[in-house]
Amino acid sequence: MIYAGILAGGVGSRMGVTEMPKQFLPVAGKPVILYTIESFLQCSRIDHIYVAVVSDYVSHMKGLLNSEFGVCDRITVVEGGSDRNGSIVNVISTIRRTDSDPDSVLITHDAVRPFVSPRIIDENIDAAIEFGATDTVVPATDTIIRSADDEYIDDIPVRSELYHGQTPQTFRIGWFEQDYFALSEEQKKTLTDACRIFTLSGRRVRLVMGDAFNLKITTPFDLRLAEAIVAERSDKK
Ligand code: CTP
Repeated sequence: MIYAGILAGGVGSRMGVTEMPKQFLPVAGKPVILYTIESFLQCSRIDHIYVAVVSDYVSHMKGLLNSEFGVCDRITVVEGGSDRNGSIVNVISTIRRTDSDPDSVLITHDAVRPFVSPRIIDENIDAAIEFGATDTVVPATDTIIRSADDEYIDDIPVRSELYHGQTPQTFRIGWFEQDYFALSEEQKKTLTDACRIFTLSGRRVRLVMGDAFNLKITTPFDLRLAEAIVAERSDKK
């Protein structure tokens, strides 16, 4: 089986003071998270979509789904965890009530990346089935500077080997269970990225090319970019 886990358990502190977490803020009048969920609903290979939502907003989320999609038996809302991987764990434990197959695939995606394309979703699923785990990336365009003290350069890694990580991150659920639950509580706190869990366990994670439109909404500037993208797309219709 193939499942999607839309991760919306964060509070969006870098967005500054807003009336609600950034995944619920409107872009062209529609909450960001509804664009994201629509992208996954359009993929018929996905058997079920789980949305992990910050606990105070579970009923808000259910209301949004109901008014946008009506009764939809392909989506389940679960409570988010205390960090991003905790939200993935909550999705997996809900899946495990009905499916114990270690090779079932979970495509995890930031709720705040509303413009993920059908190609990116498809290539994630294909690569996770073939290779076990995938991460979506784009080549670094700026030179990346490493500085541990914020004052002096420690290193300037070779740009041609560097990528920016996006999502989806997609994997066999059995891999995540084996590797994540083997970590100590201290390690779990430091590993916010699912693919880092796999690389630390010595597994190879296959790259899938993302694209610039698959941006993450983090700051007010990103919200303005998202508004511009939606406006451009509706002009073309
Ligand atoms: N996320 C989650 N559960 C958490 C924390 C984050 O599901 N406990 C999700 C966020 O909702 C978001 C995605 O992970 O869709 C990427 O995280 P990020 O952009 O860092 O979101 P926030 O944690 O909400 O933002 P900030 O770091 O600015 O507070």
